[in-house]
This record gives sequence, C-alpha cells and structure tokens, in this order.
Amino acid sequence: MYTEKVMDHFRHPRNVGEMENPSGMGTVGNAKCGDIMRIYLDIDDNQVIRDVKFKTFGCGAAVATSSMATEMVKGKTVQEAMEVTNKAVCEALDGLPPVKVHCSLLAEEAIHAALWDYAQKRGITIQGLEKPKSDIGEEETEEEY
Ligand code: FES
Repeated sequence: MYTEKVMDHFRHPRNVGEMENPSGMGTVGNAKCGDIMRIYLDIDDNQVIRDVKFKTFGCGAAVATSSMATEMVKGKTVQEAMEVTNKAVCEALDGLPPVKVHCSLLAEEAIHAALWDYAQKRGITIQGLEKPKSDIGEEETEEEY
C-alpha cells in the first residue's frame, strides 16, 4: 500500500522536534481528520531556510509527508519553498494512496502558515503566499487586533 520511500520517512522521520525562537511558526488542522501539524522555520538574513522542525498529531502518512516536505524546504529561499507543494512532496515519495493525499496537505499548509508568520514579522511579501485559513497557533490569537 505504501511506497518504500513513504515507509522510510515514516519509520525514520527527519526534522521532528521543536524550535526555540523560530523565525516563523505555523500550526494547522486537517478538517477531514482533525489532525494537527506545527512547523517551525529558522530563516537567515538572506531569506534562506536554515533549519526546519515539525511536530504532529497526524497519521503515518502525515509524518512521512512532513518529513519529506521539511527535507525539501531546507536550504531553499522562502520564495523557492513556495514550490514545495503537496503534489511535489507526494511525487518525491513515489506517490500516496488516494485516501491519504489529504494528509500531505497538512505539511504544505503548515509550511505556508509558518512562512506567513515570518513574512508578517519581517514586513515582507512572499509571492503567491496567501493568509493561511487554518492557522490555529496560540500566538496568533494573542496577536489579533
Ligand atoms: Fe489525519 Fe492523515 S488521517 S493526517
């Protein structure tokens, strides 16, 4: 049912963890299953993603896709990271069973939410990036005005 790459990233997920003082953080929920994903980004002055961590209450497919997605955005500029779509991640994993494709959206949405958070803090615009619909980070509510 799952490709070897999916199983590898599921068994040995890369970049799991948390980060103190991230440049950007995004937390999103998956409407279909109620699972949650949080992404932390460490971005340098040249807008290059130096490090990335994720934490999830998601299923195995969410773990595998987030692991792959974090590997794919690491070392990229914030603009290049926009090209790491859930489709690109699924392709890099040699495919996901159709019923699990929604799980891969968690990673993409959480990365976008973290990029949005970073862009807001820096006052910059990232082309093609829209305000995340489902950011449920606690900090977000405190900042609301
Ligand atoms: Fe919820 Fe996969 S079933 S993320």
